[in-house]
Amino acid sequence: MRETVLTNREEYVNSLLAEENSLKKLSREFAENLGLARISVAASEAQLIKTLVQMSRCKKFVEIGTLTGLSAQYIFEGLDVGGELWTLEKDFRHGEKAQAVFDQLDQSLKKIHLIMGDAREELEKLNSHGPFDGVFIDGNKAAYGDYLTWAEDNVRSGGMILADNIFLSGSVWGESTQQKFSDKQIRVMQEFNKRMADPSKFKSAVIPTFEGLFVAIKL
Ligand SMILES: C[S@@+](CC[C@H](N)C(=O)[O-])C[C@H]1O[C@@H](n2cnc3c(N)ncnc32)[C@H](O)[C@@H]1O
Repeated sequence: MRETVLTNREEYVNSLLAEENSLKKLSREFAENLGLARISVAASEAQLIKTLVQMSRCKKFVEIGTLTGLSAQYIFEGLDVGGELWTLEKDFRHGEKAQAVFDQLDQSLKKIHLIMGDAREELEKLNSHGPFDGVFIDGNKAAYGDYLTWAEDNVRSGGMILADNIFLSGSVWGESTQQKFSDKQIRVMQEFNKRMADPSKFKSAVIPTFEGLFVAIKL
């Protein structure tokens, strides 16, 4: 669980980056009102994700775990002209807020599609739109292994798989943490991390953000 009070380091990094625009602030406000500000992506990490999407010239991208649409906006901005983002969310209270934000985005050059439902089922329905240039995994922690299996089949060779929260606040290396994770969540994440680190399948790196971001390029 990320602290909602920013550290000096985060304050400094944020001061270097462009201030978030009004729609990003609206997503943060919606998350705050739901009591979920701490699970929204940090600005510096979101900026990194956007830059990776831009560097890879992504056009077709999938996000698992929309919340109130904050990280989706960064990914959307990073997409090439003509790009499309499919973002999946299970919880209606989160999805309705995200949709209210997306309805205000200029979608004349790119499109964003909010898919409501359990990602494990909804991902299969997206297959016909693929292969995809990338996926950002930020949904149910106990399902990361299933999301990766889908991504291995539906992200193109040279495409990108990004995954957030891969440290589970330190639980994956046995630290006892304030936020409690189930044995299943820890086991699934440890297995997920081993698969993402497999050099026969990916070129990968871990970016040691507070929660840990895995970046893998599919061979
Ligand atoms: C960490 S939040 C996502 C944060 C968002 N990516 C951001 O940074 O703005 C995780 C989201 O995944 C959603 N979620 C959890 N399980 C899910 C599932 N099985 N299918 C789709 N979404 C799920 C939760 O409701 C929550 O909104």
